Amino acid sequence: EAPNEENLRSPVCCIMGHVDAGKTKLLDCIQGTNVQESEAGGITQQIGATFIPTDNIRDRTKELKADAKLNVPGLLVIDTPGHESFVNLRTRGSDLCDIAILVVDIMHGLEPQTIESLNLLKMRNTQFIVALNKVDKLYSWKVSPNAPIVNSIKLQSEDVKSQFDTRVRDVIFQFKEQGLNTELYYKNKNMDETFSIVPTSATTGEGIPDLLLLLVQWAQKTMVEKLTYHDEVQCTVLEVKVSKGHGTTIDVVLVNGVLHEKDQIVVCGLQGPIVTNIKALLTPHPMKKYRLKGKYMQHKEIKAAMSIKISAPDLDHAVTGTSIYVVSPNEDLEHVKEKAKEPMESILTKIDKNGEGVYVHASTLGSLEALLEFLKTPEVNIPVRGIGIGPVHKKDVIKAGSMLEKKKEYAAILLAFDVKVKPEAEEHADDLGVKIFTADVIYDLFKQFKAYIDGLKE
Ligand code: GTP
Ligand code: NA
Ligand code: MG
Repeated sequence: EAPNEENLRSPVCCIMGHVDAGKTKLLDCIQGTNVQESEAGGITQQIGATFIPTDNIRDRTKELKADAKLNVPGLLVIDTPGHESFVNLRTRGSDLCDIAILVVDIMHGLEPQTIESLNLLKMRNTQFIVALNKVDKLYSWKVSPNAPIVNSIKLQSEDVKSQFDTRVRDVIFQFKEQGLNTELYYKNKNMDETFSIVPTSATTGEGIPDLLLLLVQWAQKTMVEKLTYHDEVQCTVLEVKVSKGHGTTIDVVLVNGVLHEKDQIVVCGLQGPIVTNIKALLTPHPMKKYRLKGKYMQHKEIKAAMSIKISAPDLDHAVTGTSIYVVSPNEDLEHVKEKAKEPMESILTKIDKNGEGVYVHASTLGSLEALLEFLKTPEVNIPVRGIGIGPVHKKDVIKAGSMLEKKKEYAAILLAFDVKVKPEAEEHADDLGVKIFTADVIYDLFKQFKAYIDGLKE
């Protein structure tokens, strides 16, 4: 379809930044002020993501007297708990994010994960807006709840204004050191070359109207082509989760197209492509009291962009970070299966053909790939016999244990990267003599493993 301002989907926006910069709080704040117990057209808490309908944005930004038309149906914001998960999102389905919010704590300036996030955004050429958050922490800040930031700053004392100016200047300088031009959004004359900074407080809501309006206006002004809705399903698995009453489900972001109940889909699985039919399309219940009980709303169909929980049989081994495909009536299933299994094929080439080596587990396909890559480097050179994604269960320990009689040095070893080990699994490992190494940083995992192997040789 041709670019068309009247047929836009919601932009998908990632919220990134250093730990505790206020990413989740910002999202809470965006929802909180407007969520009513019974609202239907209001803000809906989505799975790992929040959908903010345009009506809501209009209401929230009316003090800014925006004259521009808001053409997108809303904004789908994906919260990232620290940068690691974004790396994983990025690995597959790299088109997931149209735009990003980079949250910086005004009291701390740029921090290590801010810079890491920044580098990821640069690498992908993703446009972003800086939310310079926690302005309410400036000494003797006077709160104007939910006010546009310029109104709020006008009411501050000279001393607060000067604290503000100093901190903004410092942050602009730190961005400059990273090779980026930034400027307060209301002073920014050239958004193509200079990234905008929106001062915000997730606690008081100040600056939130500005942030919402800028995001939507900028996205629909500069990304009409990318945001033009089309029918071809573009959908990425964010998480595989057991959900009460629904068995194993997948939480997905539908970037384009429509999903229907009963659609036949193909999902990349750890043990090959999974062909299944959508049993239910779920979104969290719009009413908070039901949502808190984990109740979902069921839909006949859902149009992009939206985040959705899909309930379907056989999803246990679905791989996060991969695309899902809908099989249309005139399409060859085998061909779709080929496409769906691609991400797994590249992983399987990294596994030892002789069946000797350690077992590795990671939280997602992306982190598993990174770990396998690392284990293959000549300095490390650790063969891998089997892989797993997600928490370590007892059955994984049993598999690793099957190496006990074969090769002593790799016997019964499981490297768990960025995943939890179930207590039963841990117990069983002790009984069998399976060593489990866990770490959240690849290098730490390697150090532990090396110390152990060196110990065996002595
Ligand atoms: P991670 O998900 O752990 O990376 O952190 P996050 O970026 O999501 O930060 P989070 O929203 O959890 O906020 C961290 C802390 O900062 C919490 O105690 C928040 O209440 C607080 N906080 C967040 N935003 C603001 C703000 O604008 N003002 C003030 N005063 N506190 C804030
Ligand atoms: Na936090
Ligand atoms: Mg958070």
